[in-house]
Amino acid sequence: MPGKLKSPKELEALNKKLAKGLGTDKARVSVCNGTACRPYGSNPVVEAFKAEINKKGLTDQVEFKVTGCHGFCERGPIAIVEPGNIFYQKIKPEDVPEILDKTVLNKQVISRLLFKDPLTKAEITAQADLPFYKNQKRIILGNNIRIDPTSIEDYISIGGYSALAKALFDYQPEQIIDIIKQSGLRGRGGGGFTTGAKWESCRKAHGDIKYVIVNADEGDPGAYANEGLLTGNPHSVLEGLIIGAFAIGSHQGYIYVRNEYPLALKNIINAMEQAGKLGLLGKNILGSGFDFEVRVNRGGGAFICGESTALMASLEGKVG
Ligand SMILES: Cc1cc2nc3c(=O)[nH]c(=O)nc-3n(C[C@H](O)[C@H](O)[C@H](O)COP(=O)(O)O)c2cc1C
Ligand code: FES
Repeated sequence: MPGKLKSPKELEALNKKLAKGLGTDKARVSVCNGTACRPYGSNPVVEAFKAEINKKGLTDQVEFKVTGCHGFCERGPIAIVEPGNIFYQKIKPEDVPEILDKTVLNKQVISRLLFKDPLTKAEITAQADLPFYKNQKRIILGNNIRIDPTSIEDYISIGGYSALAKALFDYQPEQIIDIIKQSGLRGRGGGGFTTGAKWESCRKAHGDIKYVIVNADEGDPGAYANEGLLTGNPHSVLEGLIIGAFAIGSHQGYIYVRNEYPLALKNIINAMEQAGKLGLLGKNILGSGFDFEVRVNRGGGAFICGESTALMASLEGKVG
C-alpha cells in the first residue's frame, strides 16, 4: 500500500492504477463469504478455490475475490463467474475443481449448480436474470459483489473515496447539504427523516463541538442491512460518514455496532486502519486541512439502545 495520499490528484492516480484490468475479459470468480453464507459452508468453498487455483497454476489467469453479502443469502454458498455473470448456488468444496475446469477454462455451464425458478422450473444462468435481482436497483449494497471488503485498494479501484475528495475540495459544507437535500436521500432507520434536514439542523445547532454517529445497532429482529453493508462494504460507510462530518462541521465520529456482529466489527475496524494509513481519515485528510477521527463502540445487546437518544446515553457510558 502506498503512503499517505496528500491530494485528490494522488487519489485519482491510485484509482487509475488500481482500475487497470477491470472491465476486461479476464476470468473472475467472486465467492460470497458473508455472515449468512458461512454457516452454509462458504469458508471451505473459499479455501477449496484458493487451493485449486494454486494447484492448477491459474493465479495469473483467474482473479479470485472473496466478498461480503450478495443479497440472495438463502442460496449460499454463492459464486459468480465472469465473463458471463454465471450464478452458481449451494456450492460444495467438491464442486470447485469442476467449476474451474468446465466454466472458467472451457466456458461450459454446470447445470446442476444453477438456480431453478420455482414457478417455471427453468434454469437461470446469469445472476442479472434471477427473479430476486431482476427488479432491483442495488445502490447501497450493489458494490458488495465487486469488492473484497478487507481491501481498500478494491474500494479505490471502483472509484471509492472520490466523492470525499470532491466534497472536500469542490464544495462548501452548505453546498453539500443542499445537494443532499435535493437528492431526496432519507434515513431508513424507521423515521424516514430526510438526511439533508438532519445535517442542516446539526450544522446550525449551537455549540462548537459536533459529533456524527453511525447507528448500526440494528436491534430489530430479522434486520440485516446494516450488517451486510458494514461487513461487505465498510469503506462506503466510512466515506459517507466523513462527508457528513465535513458538511455539519464535526471532527469526531462514532460507529455504534451491535456486538453480535463480529465480522462487521472486524471489517470496519480494518477499514478505519487502512483509511488512516492512506491519509483518508485522521489529520489533514487528503491535504485538505480537514481533521476527522472515528471511534467504534460496541452495543451491549439492548434493543432500546438503537433509539437515537438511548444510543447517545449508551455512548456516554450511561444506561440506554
Ligand atoms: C426502540 C427503538 C429502537 C431503534 N433501533 C434502531 C436501530 O437499531 N437502528 C437504527 O438505525 N434506528 C433505530 N431506531 C431509530 C432511531 O431512533 C433513529 O430514528 C434512526 O437511527 C435515524 O436514522 P435514519 O435517519 O437513518 O432513519 C430505533 C428507534 C426506536 C424507538
Ligand atoms: S451472506 Fe452470502 S449472499 Fe448474503
